[in-house]
Amino acid sequence: MKRRVAILISGRGSNMAALIQAAAADQAFPAEIALVISNVAGAGGLSIAQQNGVPTAVVESKPFGKDRLAFEAKLQEVLDAHGIELICLGGFMRLLTAEFVERWHGRILNIHPSLLPSFPGLDPHGQALRAGVKLSGATVHFVIAATDAGPIVMQGAVEVRHDDSADTLAARVLTLEHRIYPEALRLVASGAAVLDGDYCHTPSAKPCDAVLIAPLR
Ligand code: GAR
Repeated sequence: MKRRVAILISGRGSNMAALIQAAAADQAFPAEIALVISNVAGAGGLSIAQQNGVPTAVVESKPFGKDRLAFEAKLQEVLDAHGIELICLGGFMRLLTAEFVERWHGRILNIHPSLLPSFPGLDPHGQALRAGVKLSGATVHFVIAATDAGPIVMQGAVEVRHDDSADTLAARVLTLEHRIYPEALRLVASGAAVLDGDYCHTPSAKPCDAVLIAPLR
């Protein structure tokens, strides 16, 4: 049985689109994108989901102001109504309470465009450029009650070029995000990624001998 996944978005939803495409492209994909929820009415990703035949819902967070519990109660209602088993955050720009995260322990994934634990939070690409790192990347992780932290499922790396701006680096990392998020979801939904306390293990994964060295001579 495919795991029923909801993707939570706030904006353009390019990671959401990558997940929808990956799930649709492979009959053996272990998850079905059963719902897209936006906390922002008019988020660009909503129409992309609809065009792909994925049910959508809007649960606006703004009317709830600082009452995050009331917002999440509504969110939970919608998730329950659709029989959701796993949540993927895709540019969902709303902090979740410890209560909600605990209820969904081991069942919420997030993607962040840096090699966590480096550069969590806002402006990760600006942070990477200011730190002068030569490699950056993206991380898919289980969500805990801290921003952009939690057991790491998968990471991918790209070169940081001497003439990169935050925008050019973001574009290179985004292409990578679209590759690793579906693969990470595949691992989690199939049970190949096993949560063990603060760690996520994938004992059946093939060894990877690729190395990335930057800059080249
Ligand atoms: C993505 O780059 C994602 O990694 C980032 O927001 C963007 C959403 O783009 N998420 C975070 O920074 C989480 N802290 P998308 O709507 O096109 O997927």
